[in-house]
Amino acid sequence: MTSQASASAPAPEPQTEQGGEAEPNPELFDAIVNLCKRRGFVFPSAEIYGGMRSTYDWGPLGALLLRNVREAWWRATVQERDDVVAIDAAILTNPKVWEASGHLATFADPMVDCRNCKERWRADHIGDTCPKCGSHDLTEARPFNLMFKTFVGPVEEEAAIAYLRPETAQGMFVNFLNVLQTTRKRPPFGIAQIGRSFRNEITPGNFVFRTREFDQMELEFFVPPAEAAGWFEYWCDERLAWHRRYGIPDRLLRLRQHETEELSHYSAATADIEFLFPWGWGELMGIANRTDYDLTAHSQHSGQRLEYFDQSTGERYVPYVIEPAQGLTRTAMAFLLAAYDEDVVAGERRTVLRLHPLIAPYQVAVLPLSKKETLTPLAREVLHRLQRHWMCDYDETQAIGRRYRRQDEIGTPYCVTIDFDSLDDDQATVRERDSTAQVRVPIADLVKVLSERLADPGA
Ligand code: GAP
Repeated sequence: MTSQASASAPAPEPQTEQGGEAEPNPELFDAIVNLCKRRGFVFPSAEIYGGMRSTYDWGPLGALLLRNVREAWWRATVQERDDVVAIDAAILTNPKVWEASGHLATFADPMVDCRNCKERWRADHIGDTCPKCGSHDLTEARPFNLMFKTFVGPVEEEAAIAYLRPETAQGMFVNFLNVLQTTRKRPPFGIAQIGRSFRNEITPGNFVFRTREFDQMELEFFVPPAEAAGWFEYWCDERLAWHRRYGIPDRLLRLRQHETEELSHYSAATADIEFLFPWGWGELMGIANRTDYDLTAHSQHSGQRLEYFDQSTGERYVPYVIEPAQGLTRTAMAFLLAAYDEDVVAGERRTVLRLHPLIAPYQVAVLPLSKKETLTPLAREVLHRLQRHWMCDYDETQAIGRRYRRQDEIGTPYCVTIDFDSLDDDQATVRERDSTAQVRVPIADLVKVLSERLADPGA
C-alpha cells in the first residue's frame, strides 16, 4: 500500500473577526450535532418516546469519549500528583449541607414569564423581548432556585425533603476532617471528585453545553490563607496547560477574570477558562478562590471545627480553598468542536476528528483487507492482542478506503490493516489518521510501535 497525500480544504471552524470578537458559526455547530447523532456519540434521550427537551443519552462512542476525558482529568489532577486525594460522595445528602453552603438561599437565577406565549426565560439571557414570540409583555424577574427537590423514603412530607446535589464540591468540604484524619495530608493539599450534578436550569440549551444533569470534575485545594493568591494563579495556568496537553489549540482558549459584581457569594476571585464555541466565547470551566467561606459555614452549622492544626508550629487555622471546577460533558463537547476538520485526501473530501489519541473513543481499528475467511483468524488474533492495551474497533465491511473514512470521522488515530501479504510476511500496515501515511510493521512489533505513538506526550 502506498501513502496518500492530504490537502487541506476550508472546514467550518469557529471564527473571530479581526480584532477579536467571536462570530457565531452555525455550520460547525450543526456539523457536530449531526455527527454525534449519526455516529453514536450523543442521542436525544428516550428518542422512541419523542425525547425530552435538552436531555441527552451518550451512545457507544460518546460513552468512550466521556471515559477518556474523565481519565485525562484524573491523570493530571490525581494520578500524577502526591498532594491530591480522591473521594466519591453521595448525591443525596443531609439538606443541612445546602443550608450551610448557601445554596438554599442563593442558588437561584432570575426568571421571567412571557405573558403572551407563556414561555419562561432566564431574565439575564433575553433583555426585554421574548425570543419565542417577540412580545415585550414580560413579568418582573423573580429568583428561581435551581436545586431539584425530592423526598427520601415513602412519605412525601416536609421532613423528608432532600435535594439532588447541584455541585460535587460540598462533598469535599463536609468530608474535610475525615480526609485529614485518614490521609495525614496537610495544606496545601486537594480533594478531587468526579460525579453527577443536577440543576433545574430555566433555559438549558446549545446541545450538551447546558443540561439539567451533567458530570462535574472538581478539585478543592486547601491552602494556608497567605498562599491563596499564588495557588489561584497556579491553578489557572495548570488548567490552561491541561487543555493544551489534550489538544485544544490556544486560539480557542482564553482566561477571563470575573468582575467584582459577577462573583459568586463565596468567591474572592474567579477566572473562567473560556472556549470559542460556534456561537462565541463561553465558559468552559471556572477557577475560584472560595476563601474560608465553606469550611467556616459548615463549622458554624455543624458545630464541628473544620480547621487545620499545624503541630510543628502550634498554629490553628481555617484553610482557604482554590477550586478548579469543570463540566465533563461541556468539556467533551469542546474537544469535539476543536477536533472537527474537513480536508481532501486523494481527491476525495473527508471529515476528520483530529482528537488527541487518548481522548479519541478508539485508539486503534483493526481492518482485515477483505472479509475472506483466510484473513479473519489473523485479524482477530491481532485484535485480541491490541485490545489488552487499547480500545479497538474491528470492521470488515465495505471497501478499505470507506472504512478509513469512517475511522477518520470518529477520530481513531491508527488503523491496522491485515492483508493477504500479512499471511506470508507477518507484517501489517499501520495507517495514521492525520497524515494518512502508512508503514509496514512486523505484527510482533505492533504493541511496541503503537505504544510509542500513543504515549501521552504531556506525562
Ligand atoms: N463548584 C463550583 C461550581 O459548580 P459552576 O461554575 O457553577 O461552579 C462548574 O460549574 C462547571 O460545571 C462549569 O464551568 C461548567 O463546565 C459545568 N456546568 C455548570 N452548569 C452546567 C450545566 N447546566 N450543563 C453542563 N455543564 C455545566
